[in-house]
Amino acid sequence: TPDVRPLVAGNWKMNGTRQSLGEIKAMADGVHGMLSERVDALICPPSTLLYVATALCTDSPLMVGAQDCHQASHGAHTGDISAEMIADCFGTHVILGHSERRTDHGETDQLVKAKAQAAHEAGLTAIICIGETSDERDAYQTLDVLMRQMIGSIPLDATADNTVIAYEPLWAIGSGLTPTPTDVGVAHAFMRAELGQRFGEEGRHMRLLYGGSVKPTNARDLMSVENVDGALIGGASLKAADFLAIYSVY
Ligand code: G3P
Repeated sequence: TPDVRPLVAGNWKMNGTRQSLGEIKAMADGVHGMLSERVDALICPPSTLLYVATALCTDSPLMVGAQDCHQASHGAHTGDISAEMIADCFGTHVILGHSERRTDHGETDQLVKAKAQAAHEAGLTAIICIGETSDERDAYQTLDVLMRQMIGSIPLDATADNTVIAYEPLWAIGSGLTPTPTDVGVAHAFMRAELGQRFGEEGRHMRLLYGGSVKPTNARDLMSVENVDGALIGGASLKAADFLAIYSVY
Protein backbone atom coordinates (compact mmCIF):
# COMPACT_ATOMS: atom_id res chain seq x y z
CA THR A 1 0.00 0.00 0.00
CA PRO A 2 1.47 3.41 -0.89
CA ASP A 3 2.56 5.46 2.16
CA VAL A 4 2.38 2.42 4.43
CA ARG A 5 5.62 1.12 5.87
CA PRO A 6 5.39 -2.66 6.04
CA LEU A 7 5.83 -4.63 9.25
CA VAL A 8 7.52 -8.01 9.53
CA ALA A 9 6.34 -9.56 12.80
CA GLY A 10 7.22 -12.83 14.49
CA ASN A 11 4.92 -14.78 16.80
CA TRP A 12 6.78 -17.32 18.89
CA LYS A 13 3.53 -18.74 20.35
CA MET A 14 4.27 -21.02 23.36
CA ASN A 15 7.89 -21.55 22.35
CA GLY A 16 11.12 -20.23 23.79
CA THR A 17 13.03 -20.30 27.06
CA ARG A 18 15.99 -18.24 28.24
CA GLN A 19 18.12 -20.40 25.97
CA SER A 20 16.34 -18.91 22.95
CA LEU A 21 17.29 -15.34 23.83
CA GLY A 22 20.34 -15.67 21.59
CA GLU A 23 17.96 -15.78 18.62
CA ILE A 24 16.35 -12.52 19.71
CA LYS A 25 19.76 -10.94 20.15
CA ALA A 26 20.74 -12.12 16.65
CA MET A 27 17.50 -10.67 15.24
CA ALA A 28 18.11 -7.37 17.04
CA ASP A 29 21.66 -7.19 15.66
CA GLY A 30 20.55 -8.24 12.17
CA VAL A 31 17.78 -5.65 11.98
CA HIS A 32 20.15 -3.03 13.39
CA GLY A 33 22.77 -3.98 10.79
CA MET A 34 20.36 -3.71 7.87
CA LEU A 35 18.83 -0.48 9.22
CA SER A 36 16.05 -0.43 6.68
CA GLU A 37 14.01 2.73 6.38
CA ARG A 38 11.51 0.76 4.38
CA VAL A 39 10.23 -1.79 6.87
CA ASP A 40 9.59 -2.25 10.61
CA ALA A 41 10.36 -5.42 12.55
CA LEU A 42 8.69 -6.88 15.63
CA ILE A 43 9.14 -10.05 17.65
CA CYS A 44 6.53 -11.43 20.07
CA PRO A 45 8.09 -13.97 22.46
CA PRO A 46 6.13 -15.57 25.31
CA SER A 47 5.49 -13.12 28.16
CA THR A 48 8.07 -14.83 30.39
CA LEU A 49 10.78 -13.46 28.07
CA LEU A 50 9.23 -10.09 27.33
CA TYR A 51 11.22 -7.90 29.70
CA VAL A 52 14.59 -9.49 28.94
CA ALA A 53 13.83 -9.37 25.22
CA THR A 54 13.15 -5.63 25.27
CA ALA A 55 16.41 -5.13 27.16
CA LEU A 56 18.25 -6.99 24.38
CA CYS A 57 16.66 -4.70 21.80
CA THR A 58 17.41 -1.29 23.31
CA ASP A 59 20.02 -0.49 20.64
CA SER A 60 18.04 -1.99 17.78
CA PRO A 61 14.98 -0.88 15.80
CA LEU A 62 13.57 -4.39 16.45
CA MET A 63 10.40 -3.90 18.50
CA VAL A 64 9.05 -6.39 21.01
CA GLY A 65 5.43 -7.30 21.66
CA ALA A 66 3.23 -9.78 23.51
CA GLN A 67 0.77 -12.41 22.30
CA ASP A 68 -2.33 -11.57 24.34
CA CYS A 69 -3.57 -9.29 27.11
CA HIS A 70 -6.54 -9.14 29.45
CA GLN A 71 -9.25 -6.57 28.77
CA ALA A 72 -8.95 -5.06 32.28
CA SER A 73 -6.04 -2.87 33.37
CA HIS A 74 -5.37 -4.83 36.59
CA GLY A 75 -7.14 -6.82 39.26
CA ALA A 76 -8.28 -10.29 40.26
CA HIS A 77 -7.54 -12.24 37.07
CA THR A 78 -5.17 -15.02 38.03
CA GLY A 79 -2.80 -15.99 35.26
CA ASP A 80 -3.53 -13.05 32.97
CA ILE A 81 -1.38 -10.08 32.03
CA SER A 82 -2.62 -6.59 31.23
CA ALA A 83 -1.75 -4.24 28.40
CA GLU A 84 -0.27 -1.90 31.02
CA MET A 85 2.11 -4.65 32.12
CA ILE A 86 3.24 -5.16 28.54
CA ALA A 87 3.87 -1.43 28.14
CA ASP A 88 5.69 -1.46 31.49
CA CYS A 89 8.09 -4.07 30.00
CA PHE A 90 8.63 -1.69 27.04
CA GLY A 91 6.50 -3.84 24.74
CA THR A 92 4.93 -1.83 21.92
CA HIS A 93 2.49 -4.29 20.35
CA VAL A 94 0.13 -7.07 21.36
CA ILE A 95 -1.29 -9.81 19.14
CA LEU A 96 -5.02 -10.23 19.81
CA GLY A 97 -7.64 -12.72 18.70
CA HIS A 98 -5.16 -15.17 17.22
CA SER A 99 -7.11 -18.21 16.04
CA GLU A 100 -5.31 -20.32 18.65
CA ARG A 101 -6.71 -18.05 21.38
CA ARG A 102 -10.13 -18.10 19.77
CA THR A 103 -10.00 -21.93 19.67
CA ASP A 104 -8.12 -22.78 22.89
CA HIS A 105 -9.82 -20.14 25.05
CA GLY A 106 -13.12 -19.50 23.30
CA GLU A 107 -12.29 -15.86 22.59
CA THR A 108 -15.12 -14.07 20.80
CA ASP A 109 -15.00 -11.05 18.51
CA GLN A 110 -16.54 -9.00 21.31
CA LEU A 111 -13.78 -9.99 23.74
CA VAL A 112 -11.08 -9.30 21.17
CA LYS A 113 -12.54 -5.84 20.69
CA ALA A 114 -12.46 -5.16 24.44
CA LYS A 115 -8.84 -6.32 24.58
CA ALA A 116 -7.92 -4.06 21.66
CA GLN A 117 -9.46 -1.11 23.49
CA ALA A 118 -7.42 -1.96 26.57
CA ALA A 119 -4.29 -2.19 24.42
CA HIS A 120 -4.99 1.23 22.92
CA GLU A 121 -5.55 2.77 26.35
CA ALA A 122 -2.14 1.47 27.41
CA GLY A 123 -0.55 2.98 24.30
CA LEU A 124 0.04 -0.34 22.56
CA THR A 125 -0.60 -1.20 18.93
CA ALA A 126 -3.08 -4.08 18.64
CA ILE A 127 -2.46 -6.71 15.97
CA ILE A 128 -5.95 -8.12 15.46
CA CYS A 129 -6.06 -11.53 13.78
CA ILE A 130 -8.88 -12.73 11.56
CA GLY A 131 -9.25 -15.62 9.14
CA GLU A 132 -11.50 -18.41 7.91
CA THR A 133 -11.43 -22.16 8.63
CA SER A 134 -11.02 -24.63 5.79
CA ASP A 135 -14.73 -25.54 5.99
CA GLU A 136 -15.69 -21.88 5.66
CA ARG A 137 -13.33 -21.55 2.74
CA ASP A 138 -14.80 -24.61 1.02
CA ALA A 139 -18.26 -23.10 1.49
CA TYR A 140 -17.10 -19.83 -0.15
CA GLN A 141 -17.68 -17.96 3.12
CA THR A 142 -14.21 -16.43 3.44
CA LEU A 143 -15.21 -12.83 2.80
CA ASP A 144 -18.33 -13.11 4.99
CA VAL A 145 -16.20 -14.40 7.85
CA LEU A 146 -13.63 -11.63 7.40
CA MET A 147 -16.39 -9.02 7.35
CA ARG A 148 -17.99 -10.41 10.51
CA GLN A 149 -14.67 -10.59 12.34
CA MET A 150 -13.62 -7.08 11.28
CA ILE A 151 -16.92 -5.57 12.39
CA GLY A 152 -16.90 -7.59 15.60
CA SER A 153 -13.32 -7.27 16.76
CA ILE A 154 -11.96 -3.90 15.59
CA PRO A 155 -12.85 -1.12 18.05
CA LEU A 156 -14.14 2.25 16.89
CA ASP A 157 -11.05 4.04 18.18
CA ALA A 158 -8.81 2.11 15.77
CA THR A 159 -6.30 4.20 13.80
CA ALA A 160 -3.51 3.38 11.36
CA ASP A 161 -1.07 3.86 14.25
CA ASN A 162 -2.71 1.79 16.96
CA THR A 163 -4.14 -1.07 14.91
CA VAL A 164 -2.75 -3.67 12.53
CA ILE A 165 -4.93 -6.36 10.97
CA ALA A 166 -3.49 -9.81 10.29
CA TYR A 167 -5.21 -12.13 7.85
CA GLU A 168 -4.44 -15.70 8.86
CA PRO A 169 -6.45 -18.41 7.11
CA LEU A 170 -6.66 -21.14 9.77
CA TRP A 171 -5.82 -23.92 7.33
CA ALA A 172 -2.58 -22.15 6.37
CA ILE A 173 -1.25 -21.90 9.94
CA GLY A 174 1.61 -24.31 10.60
CA SER A 175 0.51 -26.47 7.67
CA GLY A 176 2.97 -25.47 4.98
CA LEU A 177 -0.05 -24.55 2.84
CA THR A 178 -0.69 -21.00 1.68
CA PRO A 179 -3.42 -19.38 -0.36
CA THR A 180 -2.37 -18.37 -3.86
CA PRO A 181 -1.19 -14.77 -4.25
CA THR A 182 -4.45 -14.16 -6.12
CA ASP A 183 -6.53 -15.41 -3.18
CA VAL A 184 -4.50 -13.34 -0.73
CA GLY A 185 -4.99 -10.33 -3.01
CA VAL A 186 -8.76 -10.81 -3.06
CA ALA A 187 -8.96 -11.09 0.74
CA HIS A 188 -6.71 -8.09 1.34
CA ALA A 189 -8.48 -5.89 -1.22
CA PHE A 190 -11.75 -6.75 0.48
CA MET A 191 -10.33 -5.88 3.90
CA ARG A 192 -8.86 -2.63 2.57
CA ALA A 193 -12.21 -1.60 1.09
CA GLU A 194 -14.11 -2.42 4.27
CA LEU A 195 -11.61 -0.59 6.50
CA GLY A 196 -11.65 2.44 4.20
CA GLN A 197 -15.43 2.46 4.35
CA ARG A 198 -15.45 2.26 8.13
CA PHE A 199 -12.39 4.31 9.13
CA GLY A 200 -11.81 6.56 6.11
CA GLU A 201 -8.20 7.71 5.65
CA GLU A 202 -7.07 5.78 8.75
CA GLY A 203 -8.52 2.59 7.30
CA ARG A 204 -6.76 3.16 4.02
CA HIS A 205 -3.43 3.32 5.88
CA MET A 206 -3.90 0.49 8.37
CA ARG A 207 -1.32 -2.23 7.90
CA LEU A 208 -2.71 -5.50 6.62
CA LEU A 209 -0.41 -8.44 7.36
CA TYR A 210 -0.62 -11.89 5.87
CA GLY A 211 0.09 -14.85 8.20
CA GLY A 212 0.16 -18.61 7.67
CA SER A 213 3.20 -20.66 6.61
CA VAL A 214 5.26 -17.63 5.56
CA LYS A 215 8.82 -18.86 4.89
CA PRO A 216 11.94 -17.36 3.32
CA THR A 217 11.05 -19.30 0.16
CA ASN A 218 7.54 -17.88 -0.35
CA ALA A 219 7.84 -14.49 1.36
CA ARG A 220 8.71 -12.55 -1.76
CA ASP A 221 5.64 -13.78 -3.66
CA LEU A 222 3.26 -13.20 -0.75
CA MET A 223 4.70 -9.82 0.25
CA SER A 224 4.47 -8.44 -3.27
CA VAL A 225 0.69 -8.88 -3.38
CA GLU A 226 -1.19 -5.58 -3.43
CA ASN A 227 -2.50 -4.48 0.00
CA VAL A 228 -0.17 -6.88 1.81
CA ASP A 229 1.81 -4.67 4.18
CA GLY A 230 3.96 -7.31 5.83
CA ALA A 231 3.84 -10.70 7.46
CA LEU A 232 2.95 -12.35 10.76
CA ILE A 233 5.33 -15.29 10.98
CA GLY A 234 5.02 -18.29 13.30
CA GLY A 235 7.44 -21.19 12.88
CA ALA A 236 9.91 -19.34 10.67
CA SER A 237 10.31 -16.58 13.27
CA LEU A 238 11.91 -18.94 15.79
CA LYS A 239 15.24 -18.82 13.97
CA ALA A 240 16.95 -15.47 13.47
CA ALA A 241 18.29 -16.54 10.07
CA ASP A 242 14.80 -17.29 8.70
CA PHE A 243 13.26 -14.20 10.27
CA LEU A 244 15.99 -11.97 8.84
CA ALA A 245 15.71 -13.63 5.42
CA ILE A 246 12.00 -12.70 5.34
CA TYR A 247 12.75 -9.21 6.69
CA SER A 248 15.28 -8.65 3.93
CA VAL A 249 12.64 -9.24 1.24
CA TYR A 250 11.87 -5.53 1.71
O1 G3P B 1 0.66 -15.82 14.03
C1 G3P B 1 1.42 -16.46 13.05
C2 G3P B 1 0.99 -17.85 12.78
O2 G3P B 1 -0.27 -18.21 13.16
C3 G3P B 1 1.46 -18.44 11.51
O3 G3P B 1 2.15 -19.56 11.92
O4 G3P B 1 3.89 -21.27 11.76
O5 G3P B 1 2.21 -20.98 9.90
O6 G3P B 1 3.98 -19.28 10.24
P1 G3P B 1 3.11 -20.33 10.89
